Amino acid sequence: MRVSQANPAPDLIDFGIGQPGFDLLPAELLRQAGQARLDGKDTSFLNYGLEQGDEFLRHALARFLSEQYASPVDPAHLFISAGASSALALICMLYTKPGDVVLVEEPSYFLALRIFADYGLRVISLPVDDAGLDPDAVETILSQYRPTLLYTIPTFQNPTGVTLSPTRRARLAELARQHDFLIVADEVYHSLSYASSPPRPMAAYAGEGHVLSIGSFSKILAPGLRLGWIQAAPEQIARVTNCGLVDSGGGMNPLAAALVRPLLENGGQNEYLTELRTTYAARVNALNAALARELGDRARWRRPEGGFFFWLELLPEYDTDALLDKARLQRVSFQPGPKFSSRNGLHHCLRLSFAFYAIPQLEEGARRLAKAVR
Ligand SMILES: Cc1ncc(COP(=O)(O)O)c(C=O)c1O
Repeated sequence: MRVSQANPAPDLIDFGIGQPGFDLLPAELLRQAGQARLDGKDTSFLNYGLEQGDEFLRHALARFLSEQYASPVDPAHLFISAGASSALALICMLYTKPGDVVLVEEPSYFLALRIFADYGLRVISLPVDDAGLDPDAVETILSQYRPTLLYTIPTFQNPTGVTLSPTRRARLAELARQHDFLIVADEVYHSLSYASSPPRPMAAYAGEGHVLSIGSFSKILAPGLRLGWIQAAPEQIARVTNCGLVDSGGGMNPLAAALVRPLLENGGQNEYLTELRTTYAARVNALNAALARELGDRARWRRPEGGFFFWLELLPEYDTDALLDKARLQRVSFQPGPKFSSRNGLHHCLRLSFAFYAIPQLEEGARRLAKAVR
């Protein structure tokens, strides 16, 4: 009987799994936090929660984010969600109607594309280069369409790993003001940096009313917690907080919030994040070297400076959907490029995650992948 999404056969190395390995998850940290909370007299977190999210948690999160972002975050500008996915769905539910246009990056996070489909949105995709989404392309499309949302993953993008430059961030925020659309900045990888610090997040523009930044404990603690946040201007936080779903449910996930709060307050989250960065940075080095050895003549990629992914471009004649069948014969798997395309493109690209496996399997996986490519 299956209990989790990640369930690869023991002899398969599945680079498609974009989540932490089971051995990396912070069970001991959460056991201590859980014991402390459940042994105490306070049982409030077992009841319906405050709609906007526990005020203590929001204060602790605001302090944590102010440090991570090197930019002040106000606890009143935070709403606690059940992860980034639920934040994105809530925003779609409250701010869009079927047929509305959402601008996305090409490529983009494939499951966000599914959420947009669930809400009947019309997806228009725009190119990404080494400096992220191109604001000139956004400006051009604005003469043709009136989008409701622009969805971007500005830092260590899923799948390309690319980071939007500071000048482009400022320009996108300006375009949103001028043309009155909302930017939904999915900043879940911001804190997972392995080289230099990333630019100030899009969250820094959230107070101005046209940017909603979403974040998550899935990438920095554990996906099973189902805990994340929206950072936005007070009128948007009020709109989310006062909707029926949140009112009826008593906020989102107060039990998970109760586990995470002590880790933000006692430094446990910071220490764990430092460990994660060290582990993932070593994996990036190892996989980068293995790919250079095994596939250097067949593929191009940028070495990721953060996040979870390598994005490989093979020669244009490759079809990575077909390659996947050959790869599985070699007992290796990945996510083919077209999955990340909203116009059935990117057939010669593929995404590899280094979050699930330790270095020896990553190296063996690169060898198997090279055999399949050859
Ligand atoms: C860009 C991006 N957004 C959102 C998510 C999902 O986040 P959550 O687990 O907080 O719903 C992921 C997970 O892979 C992701 O890569």
